[in-house]
Parts: sequence; structure tokens; C-alpha cells
Amino acid sequence: MKPIGPLMWEHRLIEKMLGVMMRHMDQAEADKKVNPVVIDVAVDFIRTYADRTHHGKEEEILFRDLAIKELTTDLKSTMQELLDDHAWGRKTTAQIVAAKEMYLSGDEEKLTEIINLARELGSFYPRHIEKEDKHFFYPCQEYFSQSEQEKMLVEFWEFDRKMIHEKYNKVFDEYGRL
Ligand SMILES: [Fe+2]
Ligand SMILES: [Fe+2]
Repeated sequence: MKPIGPLMWEHRLIEKMLGVMMRHMDQAEADKKVNPVVIDVAVDFIRTYADRTHHGKEEEILFRDLAIKELTTDLKSTMQELLDDHAWGRKTTAQIVAAKEMYLSGDEEKLTEIINLARELGSFYPRHIEKEDKHFFYPCQEYFSQSEQEKMLVEFWEFDRKMIHEKYNKVFDEYGRL
């Protein structure tokens, strides 16, 4: 298997999850209220799975190794765009969390902000995935030999293995602050 394989499978789950989140936002708009759990579950998925686990492998392994290759100008600039997209996703997720906190404190007007931000994220992210799937991953893998690809895949599995422990250590730290 090639290292881009697991990254592409992860894209499929992220797309499906965002699709469900978009449907929840349509429902919230119709009901003029949102169940905060709907936001919390989406935020946890985005932060733990899409950002830490998925972007983690992209940024800390794939992009790290690409940075020392002689990439074409096009690929270099696409990689920068992808990093900027990840940063935008983190910022937008934090904005959703902040709006939800204010909504829970009684500011009902924050509902529109939550819906708009979640929709922005839900419509932006599939374009990011398309950029990677169709214009980045395949040309990138040409820069790696068979053995480099095998090593990368092993590093991906090791990265994933650590995630569940990192996640629940974080849960433990936050639980103490509740
Ligand atoms: Fe990405
Ligand atoms: Fe990705």
C-alpha cells in the first residue's frame, strides 16, 4: 500500500461527517435552535480526527519529507495553500466553539454565526480534499522511492497508534478543569 492510501480513506470519512454536519445545520436553521451536542461532536471530530490525526500525518510526515525534495514551483505553492487551509480550518473551528459558548450563555443570536461558520467549514473542506486527492498526492508520491514510501507508511501507522493515548490524556487534563 502507498502512504497516500490511508490519507484518502480518511478524506472519505471527513467528507461524510461534514455532510452530516451540514444537514444538522439545515435542521438547526429550521428549528431556530441547535443541540449543543451536535456542535460538540462535530468539533471533536474535526479537532481529533481531521486536524490532529489526519492533518498531523500530512504536515508532520508527508509535508516534512516533501520540504526537502526539489518540488516544482506549482507543487510548492499548492503545499503552502494546503497549510494555509489547515490553519483556516483551525481558526474557524475555534470561532465555532466561541460562538457556541456564547450561545449556551444565553446569546441566542449566536445561532446564525454558528450555522454560518459550520457551513463555511463544511463547504470549504471538500474543496481542500479535492485539491489534495486530484492535484497533490499523486504528483507528490513520484518524489519518493519505494522504500521511502514504505517507511512513510510505517511512520503513519505509528502516528495513528499514539493518537488514542494523546486524545485521552487530553480528555483527562480537561476533565479535571470541569
Ligand atoms: Fe490537508
Ligand atoms: Fe487531507
